[in-house]
Amino acid sequence: MIPSVKTVDFLVIGGGVAGLRAAIELASKGSVLVLTKDKATESTTGYAQGGIAVALSDEDEVSIHYNDTINAGDGLCNKEAVQIMVEEGPEYILELMSWGAEFDKDGSKLSYTREGAHSRRRILHSRGDSTGKEIERALIKKARSYSTIERYDFAYTLDLLVKDNRCVGAVVLRGDQIIHVFAKSVLLATGGAGQLFSRTTNPMISTGDGLAIAYRAGAEVMDMEFIQFHPTTLYFPGAPQFLLSEAMRGEGAVLKNIQGQSFMNNYHKMAELAPRDAVTRAIVSEMVKTSAKHVLLDLTHLEKDFVKKRFPLIYTTCLQYNIDVTEEMVPVCPSAHYIMGGIKTNIHGETSIEGLFAAGEVACTGIHGSNRLASNSLLEGLVYGARTGKRAVAYASEISGHPDSSEFSMDSKLILTGADTDFDIDKKRSSLRQIMWNKVGIIRCEKSLTAARNWLSRQRHLIDSAFRDRRGFEFKNMLTVADIVTESAYSRKNSVGAHYRSDFKDKGADWQNHSLCRKDTSIVWVD
Ligand code: SIN
Repeated sequence: MIPSVKTVDFLVIGGGVAGLRAAIELASKGSVLVLTKDKATESTTGYAQGGIAVALSDEDEVSIHYNDTINAGDGLCNKEAVQIMVEEGPEYILELMSWGAEFDKDGSKLSYTREGAHSRRRILHSRGDSTGKEIERALIKKARSYSTIERYDFAYTLDLLVKDNRCVGAVVLRGDQIIHVFAKSVLLATGGAGQLFSRTTNPMISTGDGLAIAYRAGAEVMDMEFIQFHPTTLYFPGAPQFLLSEAMRGEGAVLKNIQGQSFMNNYHKMAELAPRDAVTRAIVSEMVKTSAKHVLLDLTHLEKDFVKKRFPLIYTTCLQYNIDVTEEMVPVCPSAHYIMGGIKTNIHGETSIEGLFAAGEVACTGIHGSNRLASNSLLEGLVYGARTGKRAVAYASEISGHPDSSEFSMDSKLILTGADTDFDIDKKRSSLRQIMWNKVGIIRCEKSLTAARNWLSRQRHLIDSAFRDRRGFEFKNMLTVADIVTESAYSRKNSVGAHYRSDFKDKGADWQNHSLCRKDTSIVWVD
C-alpha cells in the first residue's frame, strides 16, 4: 500500500486535556493537526470525576499544595516539576475559566472539595462529579475557535517517523488508509495504559499506545513500575468498573469491611483520606481478612439531598444497578487507575528524541513520584500541555523548515496486508489483562512477577504479527507496555509508593533511584 502524505507544522496525538491545551498554544504559530483514535470527546480526561487540584482558595497556599504532592509521591517526585505545576496552576485555571469552563460554586465563591493526602480543601469540581467533561468541553470549544487546528478523529497512530533520533511525523491509520503525517514537531498526549489490567477505571482507549510507539522509536521511558490503583470502583455483578470518586470520602464517606466494621483508622492516621496507595492496600488486607472480593463504601449517614446534588453521575449510575447510595452501602474494590511513569521528559516536555514532545499521563515529568496526589493529573495536563506547546513552537522556529518527506520510503513497512494473525486477539488480550492484574497488580513478589515474565516472553513473538486493525495494533502495544511495566516491577526490589513487593516490604537501599529503559537495552537506575 502506498501511503498518502500530509504535511503540517505541528502534530498533536491525543485529544484530552494535555493534547488540547498544547494544540491551543500551537494554534497561533502554524497549522496543527490533532489526532484522536476514537471520537473527539473520548479521552480519559472526560472520565475524571473528582476534580482538579489548585491552590486558589483563601485557606490554601502554593507551598502547601507543593508539600502535599511531594509527601504523596513518597520521596520520588521531581521537585522542580512539582514547583512549576503548583505555581503556574492557578493562572492556567483562571485562563480556562475565562474560556468558559465552569466550576461549582458555594454562593459566589468557588467550591473546593478534599481528597486523600490533601491537607486543604483545594479541589475544584464541575456539575458535582463531571469535572473532566467540563474541562474537555471548554477546551474543545476554544480549540474550535482556531481555523489553524484540524482534527482527524478515529485516526490511529501506528508508529512515529524517526530518523537519526529526530522525529518528523507519524504513520497514521485512518479508515483503511495509511497516511504519513510530516510535521516540524510531534507532541504525544495519548494518556495512560489502564487497560493492561483486567480491573481498571480507564476507558477502552487506554491501551498505552503512546508509550509503546515512543519506546519503539527509541525514546527513554521512566518509572514504569509505578501504577496507581484507585481504592474504590463499583464491584457489582454485571456493572461496569465504574469509579466512585475519592471526593466521596472527602465529603465524609467511610470504608467498611463486609462485616460492617470501619477499618481505615487501623491503617493510617489520615484514615479515609490517607494517600491512595495506603488506602488501596488497606482494602486488600481487609478483603483477605474477610475472604471477600470487595469492601463497602458507606455514605448513608450523609444528607441524602446533598449526596444526590454533589455526586449526580455516581448516584444515577449506581441506581441503574439498583444501588441507592443514599440508602445502602456500595460494594467497592480497587482497580488500576493511572500510570505515574511514562516517556521521560524534562520540564519543557522534551523527550530523548529530538522533535518529539510528550505531556499528560503518557509523559513522566516526575511530578507524581511513586504515587500521584489525587486530582493533580488534570492540573499537570493543563500546565504541561501549555508549557510543552510553547517549547514545541520554539523548537520549530529553530529548525530549518519542514522535514524532507522523500527521505522516508513511501512503501510503508506497516502494511495492512500480509498473513492473518492465527490467534484470537480478544482471548489473548483478556489473558494479558488477567495476568497483569493477578501477577503485576497491587501486591507483587518475585514469584508472581516471574510468572508474568514467563507468560510475556512466550507471547513476545506475537508483536511481529501482521495486525490489520486498531484492536490488533492495540494488543501489540499492550504487550510492549506490559513487558516494560513487568520488567521494571521485577527489577525494583523494594517497596515505595504504589509499588509494593511482599518480598521486599521496605524501601531498603537505593530506593530513590528511578528505573529507565529504552528499546534493546536493559533497565538502568538513575538519580
Ligand atoms: C477521583 O475522583 O477519585 C479520581 C481523581 C483522580 O484520580 O485524580
